[in-house]
Amino acid sequence: METKRLNEEELDLAVAMLTADGLVAFPTETVYGLGANALSENAVKRVFAVKGRPSDNPLIVHVTGFDQVKNYIVHVHPLAEKLAKTYWPGPLTLVCQTKENAFPSVVSAGLPTVSFRMPNNDKTLALLEKSGLPLVGPSANTSGKPSPTTSEHVYHDLKGKIEGILEDGSTAIGVESTVLDISDPTQPPMILRPGAITKEQLEQDLGIVIAVDKHLIKESEAPKSPGMKYKHYSPDTNVVMIRDNDWKKAITVAKKQHLHVGVMAGPGIVNQVQSEVTAVFCFADDSVEAATKGLFAGLRALDESEELDVIYVATFPEQELGVAYMNRLKKAAGQQFFE
Ligand code: TXA
Ligand code: MG
Repeated sequence: METKRLNEEELDLAVAMLTADGLVAFPTETVYGLGANALSENAVKRVFAVKGRPSDNPLIVHVTGFDQVKNYIVHVHPLAEKLAKTYWPGPLTLVCQTKENAFPSVVSAGLPTVSFRMPNNDKTLALLEKSGLPLVGPSANTSGKPSPTTSEHVYHDLKGKIEGILEDGSTAIGVESTVLDISDPTQPPMILRPGAITKEQLEQDLGIVIAVDKHLIKESEAPKSPGMKYKHYSPDTNVVMIRDNDWKKAITVAKKQHLHVGVMAGPGIVNQVQSEVTAVFCFADDSVEAATKGLFAGLRALDESEELDVIYVATFPEQELGVAYMNRLKKAAGQQFFE
């Protein structure tokens, strides 16, 4: 199958593909998603097949607003409308209790809940509007690989397996949305996956304490979000996390062992170590926002350069956006810090 790379003028073709159970990847502000008609069991099954995704990992349904969600849900959480009003379109996914048979059971991997999100990307919102369909949209990568933040990444993983890619530039945020469980109206919302809408921000805007899935605090607990249990985002090259004060030592040790090192960090660190390592991927600046935006692209880029033995990546304090950054980085590194 030829995978067509589509621009904004070709939205009608993208809509036709989706209506005929085709798969069309789309850009969002977080990462690219793999779009398919959420109401078609056949299309959704293909999504699992082309990604190689475990069938117990539910998908997010992408919508044009909370009014659309209301058609599908029961037991509306008292904060649901406020959350949608405050953060949509944006990187927040809401897990809701759905009517029986609202979607084919493959969408939710058999769970009684379905998660919804309104992405903040004009092209994709136009696609959702024009198609009139709710679209599933898992990250458009092969399962286990870093999520795609450019249409090139999508093409690399899925060319020949999907009908189209709606193209846009690099995604602005770089990690997937915050997944917030509001399925029980008697309980406060709970973060199942950290993202760019942070616990601190939610607590400030809502004036309540937001719960966090135990798994995110203690790795040994089973996650409530099935996808969080998989070893995600992992390139083939060994990834090691370097704390701010450990760079010198880490480079010295690697030199002694004659290792070819790739470094991912902001200019502050890169300028110091560049001459001593084999390759660098420099984030746009030293902020955690820039690191988050570059994380998956950097892992993919350095993983492609075959001569590397190890990729050293900068760490950030685990607060605000740093929670989401470190959550993804720890998975890529299999929890390995340089000690
Ligand atoms: O930013 C994003 O959320 C991107 C873009 C494309 O929208 N999508 C994305 O989808 O990251 P995916 O499939 O790669 O991740 C969905 C996550 C998984 O961890 C899954 O287990 C969880 O959301 N999830 C989906 N439905 C759920 C549900 N009903 N209950 C609990 N967790 C759910
Ligand atoms: Mg994913």
